[in-house]
Amino acid sequence: MGSEDSIPRKQACQQFQITYKLKILLLIVATNLFTIYIFTNPHSNFDHPLSRISLWDTSPLLLKLNATQDQLTESHSQILNLQTQLNSAQQLLGSLLDHLTSLNGNPPAATYADLLDDLHDEARLAAAPHALPLGNTPRIGSEIYASVGGGCLNHKQDLAKYMSYEVGGECPSDDVFAQTLMLKGCEPLPRRRCHPRQPANYAEPRPLPGSMWATPPDTSIVWDPYTCKNYTCLIERKKFPGSYDCKDCFDLQGREKTRWQYDNGGLDFGMDQVLAAKSAGSVRIGLDIGGGSGTFAARMRERNVTIITTSMNFDGPFNSFIASRGLIPMHVSISQRFPFFENTLDIIHSMHVLSNWIPDPMLEFALYDIYRVLRPGGLFWLDRFFCFGWQLNETYVPMFDRVGFKRLRWNTGMKLDRGIQKNEWYFSALLEKPIFT
Ligand SMILES: *[C@@H]1O[C@H](CO)[C@@H](O)[C@H](O)[C@H]1NC(C)=O
Ligand SMILES: *[C@@H]1O[C@H](CO)[C@@H](O)[C@H](O)[C@H]1NC(C)=O
Ligand SMILES: *[C@@H]1O[C@H](CO)[C@@H](O)[C@H](O)[C@H]1NC(C)=O
Ligand SMILES: *[C@@H]1O[C@H](CO)[C@@H](O)[C@H](O)[C@H]1NC(C)=O
Repeated sequence: MGSEDSIPRKQACQQFQITYKLKILLLIVATNLFTIYIFTNPHSNFDHPLSRISLWDTSPLLLKLNATQDQLTESHSQILNLQTQLNSAQQLLGSLLDHLTSLNGNPPAATYADLLDDLHDEARLAAAPHALPLGNTPRIGSEIYASVGGGCLNHKQDLAKYMSYEVGGECPSDDVFAQTLMLKGCEPLPRRRCHPRQPANYAEPRPLPGSMWATPPDTSIVWDPYTCKNYTCLIERKKFPGSYDCKDCFDLQGREKTRWQYDNGGLDFGMDQVLAAKSAGSVRIGLDIGGGSGTFAARMRERNVTIITTSMNFDGPFNSFIASRGLIPMHVSISQRFPFFENTLDIIHSMHVLSNWIPDPMLEFALYDIYRVLRPGGLFWLDRFFCFGWQLNETYVPMFDRVGFKRLRWNTGMKLDRGIQKNEWYFSALLEKPIFT
């Protein structure tokens, strides 16, 4: 362990030397810039050609002009010379910066300590490394770091607001605010030392399996951040105009009831047909990415498969609702690395969430992460990925192939908009992480 210990110190030493060289170099560049400034600045003591000559007297004027021209030619060549020097200095500086960047993967100024300097009070206490009480430990070192998303530092005011509360008191009801921060890359958020508000007249949850298909009591959550203030409102919402995330998902007696129960041979796969792709009982644990109100997990539970449902609380208390059903909600966004170890999950499902609204690089990272956490032979059920016709073959088919999934089933279908076909497509896919022998 001692040898591992010395690596950071060696790097620090190299970095110090480089920083020192960098300072000297900056000094050289700065000096050059200063010289150029002297030569080009009209207020410096450089002779201005027409400043002290009477314009009616031509011969001295010509003489003076000639002399000035000579001077100008000379200084021009000096400037050219300086520019050459400056260019080579800049090149040197550039390569030095590249070197520095490759050393620690970051621009030189952004050390964790620099960033911490910008945080105050609770935020700083939550994010700062803390010395381990028993000193140096082999696997961790001498101090332990909290996880705080780098994006938090781009939103310091919001972070300060999030971290201002009475220690030991009640937290603000700010989960909607918190998740806008998360989506700005402030994920994970720092921990807090306050108690979330408790709903008045809290009722204990119903027992399983009944809880899976029952609307929870209104007293199970705090309604503060939402437009709707009860489950009746959330269930009725599907009848009203306006676009809400997962508009009809809270109505467990509506469309939710039939989802994945039948296979239409096209875009809508049946759950039993998907599970039949593997030997009986070999699909046991998995993840539903952006799983709305948790119905996929409920249906899987009826088949003895345990599914964790990730969900944000857009326009409604999705996480609380999933939990009330007796299912496991996880409040993480699509941008975060999945908190699972590699080669662990039997199945991952996602409906409507992964689509062409996600920038290509981010989507590809997410697909690789899905591949990572799936066990060899694990299933990725991509349910209704939306895109335009030209994107299908140009972008997405190659991307999915590149990540390395094996296609077990692939259905495409054109989207109908009031019965009219547009060049807008869905595809559903059952993909398998290959087993290499
Ligand atoms: C100015 O210089 C030119 C050549 O560069 C020369 O022909 C001319 O006679 C000079 N004029 C004066 C007034 O010295
Ligand atoms: C539910 O909330 C809506 C508005 O959010 C309100 O108009 C309605 O009266 C409430 N219904 C019940 C049963 O509490
Ligand atoms: C789920 O597990 C229970 C208890 O082990 C068993 O009785 C039941 O038949 C299983 N259901 C399915 C659909 O496999
Ligand atoms: C994509 O390519 C396949 C096979 O080459 C072709 O059959 C299909 O029509 C193409 N789809 C679109 C939407 O262009």
